Amino acid sequence: MASYLVTGAAGFIGARVAETLLAEGHSVVGVDNLNDAYDVRLKQWRLAQLQARPNFRFYKLDICRRAELAETVFGRHKFAAVINLAARAGVRYSVEDPWAYYETNVTGTLNLLELCRSHGIAKFVLSSSSSVYGQGNPLPYREDQPTDQPLSPYAASKKAAETLCYTYHHLHGLDVSILRFFTVYGPAGRPDMLPFRLVQWICEGRPVVIYGDGRQSRDFTYVDDIARGTIAAIRPLGYEVMNLGADRPVPLMAAIRLVEALVGRPAQVVFEAAQPSDVQHTWANITLAGKLLDWAPQVSLDEGMGRLVEWYCANREWAREVATC
Ligand code: UGA
Repeated sequence: MASYLVTGAAGFIGARVAETLLAEGHSVVGVDNLNDAYDVRLKQWRLAQLQARPNFRFYKLDICRRAELAETVFGRHKFAAVINLAARAGVRYSVEDPWAYYETNVTGTLNLLELCRSHGIAKFVLSSSSSVYGQGNPLPYREDQPTDQPLSPYAASKKAAETLCYTYHHLHGLDVSILRFFTVYGPAGRPDMLPFRLVQWICEGRPVVIYGDGRQSRDFTYVDDIARGTIAAIRPLGYEVMNLGADRPVPLMAAIRLVEALVGRPAQVVFEAAQPSDVQHTWANITLAGKLLDWAPQVSLDEGMGRLVEWYCANREWAREVATC
């Protein structure tokens, strides 16, 4: 059984990856700064699930604080791999505060890469994003398509992190898996993202705000599938960039209809101006992850949204108050 560092361990994907590794019998050191990019209650809820398990050690720490990270985490633990899931992740807010995104996503990643080099850690896994494909690539997106015209500072920061990883692979032989996630959703998901909002807004009878005409589509991917793919990507691969997506793009209006059916209430949809940082469609070609990781998504949107609705109902007392902007 191995020991792993999971950054962003109180985050949506980080918590699920950590939980899955722990369930497989590994030990996990979790790092998270518990920032207030969104309602901290969600992070505390996820952390509480992890802290109930043995072999989990948590440090409240920012990956931007290199000296502290070196001393407190890398100085005390040895890792088979570093899985970097700490990130500023909202597309739209990155237009307002691009600095926060560059600090965490680029400088934070650089700090971890450098610590991997200086501590002889062989494997690094980076969470990237479908947003790096920007606008204009033919669908479904393939890893070898151009990604040099990102539409948001967030997407640009993820592209920058990817390229730094390549440099560390080239210079220092670090083995790197880069995973481009496609709109991940599920229980205790991010409240700035559409799936959480749809469930909360429709359950509580609040207006559903849709940017643009709702005809944009997303390749919504269930969080457990993403956690499985992330763990599969810990294997030695050299340097690989892989999409992890559902390969089933769904227009936003169809996602609304699905949540209406699951909740048993109609949505009151309010259309607002389209966001210039928003990509119109996402759709993952997942051939490479199938080949290299033997990975395929298993949870359908109906099933996954059903589990999100179930989680929301079980936690409604506080989840109804989670701020969605
Ligand atoms: C999401 C995540 O926020 C990113 O962290 C992730 O990297 C990215 O997916 C990805 O695929 O990799 P985004 O697609 O913008 O980014 O996800 P949402 O915020 O859930 O938005 C999905 C769609 O719903 C967008 O077209 C957005 O404009 C729309 N939306 C979102 C609304 O119409 N109303 C809302 O209140 C929220």
